[in-house]
Amino acid sequence: MSYLAVNGGTPVVDIEKAKFEWPRITDESEKAVVKQLHTSISIYDNSGIIGEFEKIFADYHNRKLGLLSNSGTSAIFSMFEGIGLMPGDEVICPVYTFHASVSPLINTGAIPIFADSDEFGNISIDSIKTKLTPRTKAVVVTHMWGTPTKDINKIQIFCRDHNLFLLEDCSHAHGSSIYTKKVGSFGDAAAWSLQGQKTITGGEGGIMLTDNTKIFNRALLQGHYNKRPKNEISSSETEYKFFLTGMGLKLRAHPLAIALALQQFNHLDTFISQRQKYANIFTKAFNDYPFFTTPETISKDIQSSWYAYILLFNENESFGVSREEFVSALHAEGLIEVDIPGSTGLLNELPLFTKTNEIMPRLYNKPIYSQGPYPIADKFYNSVIKLPVWTFEDEYKIVDSYISGIQKVADHLMEHKSLAE
Ligand SMILES: Cc1ncc(COP(=O)(O)O)c(C=O)c1O
Repeated sequence: MSYLAVNGGTPVVDIEKAKFEWPRITDESEKAVVKQLHTSISIYDNSGIIGEFEKIFADYHNRKLGLLSNSGTSAIFSMFEGIGLMPGDEVICPVYTFHASVSPLINTGAIPIFADSDEFGNISIDSIKTKLTPRTKAVVVTHMWGTPTKDINKIQIFCRDHNLFLLEDCSHAHGSSIYTKKVGSFGDAAAWSLQGQKTITGGEGGIMLTDNTKIFNRALLQGHYNKRPKNEISSSETEYKFFLTGMGLKLRAHPLAIALALQQFNHLDTFISQRQKYANIFTKAFNDYPFFTTPETISKDIQSSWYAYILLFNENESFGVSREEFVSALHAEGLIEVDIPGSTGLLNELPLFTKTNEIMPRLYNKPIYSQGPYPIADKFYNSVIKLPVWTFEDEYKIVDSYISGIQKVADHLMEHKSLAE
């Protein structure tokens, strides 16, 4: 067996050849952006590329109304404004997610109530049930790493039964589906990031979808003024009178970003089917090691977008080798894209959610009480090893080299029961 690079052996792959490059900017992408550059670089209403993207994205998800914005964070903020949250309202949120699934709430005065995860890192219905109070107004779901929340139907029924809004953060899950329905079509509203790393990207951008005219009108007034709200809110609606100013913010998307996002979107289904093939290959390669838990790759009910491939590393089975040591050995082999995500983690202890009154005293007159523990989310967070999922057929060599590198270190561990020589 060859020496591990961490012990002075030769790395499996040259770092320069081991990068995950995303998005792939093709001639087609360049043409789409240049065409938009000569058409319009600021759009005040939903004409041109803005309306085109909103319609095509809404149709794909079988939703009526789409609203682009300048980021996923803004799109999530628009959902919170859309449902008219008031100070003191409670919103049940996933404890394990990227902070922006929840952080815009802090601009409304509402209180995030964190719920534990299921074994896939998504919010758990059992935990949601224990968080319900008479002040609960909404539930937020994030489909983490592209894996649809398996309990989404139950969560939908729970929300209906208790008169709660269901909001989906689909920023990892463009094109993911469950029970043949796309994620983003279960909630009262859903939001996607179109930021640079995302499966559909304009570099920066976000979009919210809903069927609910009230949510849409409020979201529209939050980030847009004059032409858009004037054209799109019926003059008989109470919100119409605010069209000239909106609510004082401007969250409009940039047309060049949306031109790129639209060009990417036209390939979404092909991206997902190629990622599915690579995910299957990963699972086959890693499934038999006792210290790995691989994600469910083939299921008739669930289609992940494979925003990332999450390999869980079980330190009880790894002969005393920690996840960090294992990943360092992979990095030494040149597998620089293997990651232990730091910024996506448990939110309950973050200062924004504990010392909220210090940063937002106008909306919070006391700290939000300490919440926890979250044993399942904690275990998931402490086990995650994240791999990118390559998206193009011509990337099979890099996929092979990542598999070889991971197998090299994992085989060594199996044989020596340590990473030492
Ligand atoms: C789950 C999730 N929600 C929201 C966001 C925020 O999106 P944006 O960066 O476009 O504001 C991100 C960004 O990474 C995310 O991963």
